[in-house]
Amino acid sequence: MRVLGIETSCDETSASVVKDGRVVLSNITASSLRLHKKYQGIIPEIASRAHIESISLVTKQALQEAGVKIKDIDMICVTKGPGLVGSLLVGISFAKALSFALGKPLLGVGHLEAHLYASFLSERKRRTNPKKQTALLPCIGLVVSGGHTSLYYINQDFNFRLISATADDAVGEAFDKVAKILNLGYPGGPVIEKLAKEGSADSVRFSCRGSQDLGFSFSGIKTAVLYKTQNTERKPHDADIAASFQKAVVETLVEKSLLACEHKKIATLVVGGGVAANSYLRKRMEEEARLRKVRVFFPDFTLSLDNAAMIAGLGYQWYKRGRHSSYSLTAELS
Ligand code: KG4
Ligand code: ZN
Repeated sequence: MRVLGIETSCDETSASVVKDGRVVLSNITASSLRLHKKYQGIIPEIASRAHIESISLVTKQALQEAGVKIKDIDMICVTKGPGLVGSLLVGISFAKALSFALGKPLLGVGHLEAHLYASFLSERKRRTNPKKQTALLPCIGLVVSGGHTSLYYINQDFNFRLISATADDAVGEAFDKVAKILNLGYPGGPVIEKLAKEGSADSVRFSCRGSQDLGFSFSGIKTAVLYKTQNTERKPHDADIAASFQKAVVETLVEKSLLACEHKKIATLVVGGGVAANSYLRKRMEEEARLRKVRVFFPDFTLSLDNAAMIAGLGYQWYKRGRHSSYSLTAELS
């Protein structure tokens, strides 16, 4: 089955063709990020307009790169949420119209669940076999994005059950806010990661352990960083703040994810979302998981960030297991 995926939940307009839920034949993404940079955050109205301008072109390119005609597409999957409502509506309207015109099934897919599916995809040349793919299930999933930080239990049928979430800010949001405090620009994750390489992670003591066992909390650490920068007499170097902040949040993510594996007696963990692109997180998670005999999977770098391949991939799995959407499909917010 060749599935066309459409993703427009935030500032990226993405279209992808995925074969049988595994092999990414194409994954084209246009970003409106440069238009938002001066505001140090995403402006919803600008993002929606950019989606309208790009979506047809991005879809055409995705079909072309996959070497398929629109009539060869067997199903259309689209992000139904969570996300910015104006942005989601562009993708959903476009997908509904295509599905109606082609007479092909339509399926709305959750953005967060799809982030966790990204580890199950492979680029065109490195084909995974389907048996190996489902051998990873059941597993625990950690979503680390700009708007969410959550742990899920994923069963054999790709059903997702929420285990815990953040009580306040998401981890990506914390990276973005700390970067803003340090005047590093937007988005914060990649710049903090780069600056942290020049600093000492043990120079400033930060902590961000959520109140309950598996719950997360990242708003306190952001305030702690702000206080450190306001200490005019003994202000640490920005690189030391960045490294110490990154270490504190990564240690929490690692500790709670592996604790969830222990509680649920599951030895496989998948990580997804923009912060999964962070190489320090990848390294620390892999080190600790090895010690505790947990297998951990991260998506390829490009599939960590928002993309339509993850939507098409998970949509295929859900469709095969009987899920359908009607033309009354609407955006799911939050
Ligand atoms: O998943 P994503 O692309 O969009 C949402 O669904 O929110 O995640 C975006 C978030 C931003 O907060 C960004 O700062 C963060 O991912 N991010 C990173 C890195 N690259 C992106 N955080 C830490 N390290 C990175 N290398
Ligand atoms: Zn995302």
